[in-house]
Amino acid sequence: MKVLDAKFVQGFIRMCNDGWEQGWHERNGGNLTYRMKKEETEAVKEELGQDGVWKEIGVSTPKLAGEYFLVTGSGKYFRNVVLDPEDSIGIVEIDEKGENYRICWGLVNDGRPTSELPSHLMNHEVKIQVTGGRHRVIYHAHTTNVIALTFVLPLKDEVFTRELWEMATECPVVFPDGIGVIDWMVPGGRDIAAATSERMRQYDVTIWAHHGMFASGEDFDLTFGLMHTVEKAAEILVKMLSMRPDKQQTITPQNFRDLAADFKVTLPEKFLYEK
Ligand code: 13P
Ligand code: ZN
Repeated sequence: MKVLDAKFVQGFIRMCNDGWEQGWHERNGGNLTYRMKKEETEAVKEELGQDGVWKEIGVSTPKLAGEYFLVTGSGKYFRNVVLDPEDSIGIVEIDEKGENYRICWGLVNDGRPTSELPSHLMNHEVKIQVTGGRHRVIYHAHTTNVIALTFVLPLKDEVFTRELWEMATECPVVFPDGIGVIDWMVPGGRDIAAATSERMRQYDVTIWAHHGMFASGEDFDLTFGLMHTVEKAAEILVKMLSMRPDKQQTITPQNFRDLAADFKVTLPEKFLYEK
């Protein structure tokens, strides 16, 4: 089968375009990676070249040895993915040590994988461990309202989680484990990758202060939906704070406990503090 005919590739391209349409991907902002299933790699084998040069990932991810990933390219624009996928995205194989990658398909004009590959791969490695391999998608987006909030809220997991939970009743059901937040760091390297993957052990979402968000999920719908839900809650919070900084009424800690019981989710008490 041709790579571009495969369902997972079409889902990946659609998700890139959906993110572009949300306004989260100015210029080359954001990146997306998908850990391919064995049968998906097998199905497109005829188009996967073996002649790519091995290059260093920059971090060691031994649990990803031999895995194949569909990735966006560094410097590539999400708005172009749907128009010219072979230029904008590619498939990479990870070597047997989990330290190098090679391009097997796509990124045809001397492209290379996203500069955030270290963060993506370390997050994939952590998520394989904590979800038993269920999570396959890691998504980074420059979500406007979440970024705006990182200038006015304390950069604490508890504060972001609680404030965003209060903005929409669905939030604690969609991200019951909460959200991680890290201080501003230089993007694209080993340090931010380590800090993010440490948060992703506990959470499916991590906010990068003054930069954007990382989300992890089982498939494209769940991961995009998670990003969308968090950013929508952030939009409501920005609107609310713009109207008046104090709330007249809100969802209370006891409301959250009642919701948790009915919706059969566990909400950690550390987020239900008295204000
Ligand atoms: P890339 O173009 O290398 O994917 O970088 C975009 C980005 O958002 C960096 O954080
Ligand atoms: Zn970014």
